[in-house]
Amino acid sequence: MKIGVLGAGQLGRMMAISGYPLNHQFGFSGNTNDEPASLLGHMFALEDNAENIESLVAFADVITYESENTDVEIVKEINKDIPVYPGEKSLFTTQHRGREKALFDQLNIPCAPYQMVNSLADLTKAVSDIGLPAILKTATEGYDGKGQFLMRHTDQIKEAFDSMQGVESILEGFVNFKRELSLIAVRGIDNDHKYYPLVENTHHDGILRLTIAPAQTIDSKVQETAEHYMQTLLDEMDHVGVLTIELFETENGLVVNEMAPRVHNSGHWSIEGAHTSQFENHIRAISGMPLGDTSPTHAFSAMINIIGKIGPTDLVLNMANASLHLYDKTERENRKLGHINIIANSQAQLDTSIQQLKDFLPN
Ligand SMILES: Nc1ncnc2c1ncn2[C@@H]1O[C@H](COP(=O)(O)OP(=O)(O)O)[C@@H](O)[C@H]1O
Ligand SMILES: [Mg+2]
Repeated sequence: MKIGVLGAGQLGRMMAISGYPLNHQFGFSGNTNDEPASLLGHMFALEDNAENIESLVAFADVITYESENTDVEIVKEINKDIPVYPGEKSLFTTQHRGREKALFDQLNIPCAPYQMVNSLADLTKAVSDIGLPAILKTATEGYDGKGQFLMRHTDQIKEAFDSMQGVESILEGFVNFKRELSLIAVRGIDNDHKYYPLVENTHHDGILRLTIAPAQTIDSKVQETAEHYMQTLLDEMDHVGVLTIELFETENGLVVNEMAPRVHNSGHWSIEGAHTSQFENHIRAISGMPLGDTSPTHAFSAMINIIGKIGPTDLVLNMANASLHLYDKTERENRKLGHINIIANSQAQLDTSIQQLKDFLPN
């Protein structure tokens, strides 16, 4: 099949790397030829150019996307001619924190208390209803912790409101979590579902740095609960492809943070760490192929992000149980340039391997 991807970043790059062995071809939307995916398929410039949308659609049998910030209007337009997966409902819901939380409420999925904020008066009321600490976030477009303001005192109301620069925002009560987890699942066109194990994520300055897969000491009940939330969401949105939910593990159980209608950074471990990677399973799902086994290949695995600077990659290349994945990006502060996957047969081996790669991690 010919698969068109809206976007040409590292996620599209890794989709293509996993999709070529299945005999798929790839096309990407993008305006320059130095994006991570641009050497992995045909490039179609898209912005404000209806003719180029037509040429991407003429090339492709099916369209997918890399980002929840994809324009729903473009997706609607394409959908008149060929399928777009995940569909419009998944995209429309997940690109707005308020719509996402309303769906969690509707489906009885626990999430932080929240209120939408469109004025200083709204924020004052939300702070008094929800209490502090709380986090004010832009309703759309946020990623890697950008567009967020952590409020601790009521005298920060004006400063927090101004930092949103007039865009719609949402105040969320601060969740006292023990760990951050995520669950990745894939749903096929035929409604088959498969789930990866819950993984544990560690962030630094809002950016994911380390994923441990599977998350250790997870009760099977907790995995079941997370899968139940996931299945409810997949079915409600009639989702096709990979869906990710980010969760907080708290004293009182799981609280859902947010979701993404796509392959996710916390699933990169699955390239070596699972029998079928999230990328391959996403491609299988949207192209109508049977879904692959999501179980781990090893008892322990981890993913370390390479952020800002490439660093001492020979360290990785000299380890039998570590794999280097670079995205063909130039170094820039806080930029995701690549990741390292580690596989291990014991906790001790995993810890030693992470320790050997500590130069890639913040203190
Ligand atoms: N309500 C909350 N309570 C506590 N921590 C939060 C809350 N919301 C977000 N965070 C922290 O900020 C990080 C980024 O927020 P998130 O909503 O996931 O936005 P992004 O779209 O940038 O990933 C989370 O991974 C978590 O560490
Ligand atoms: Mg997040």
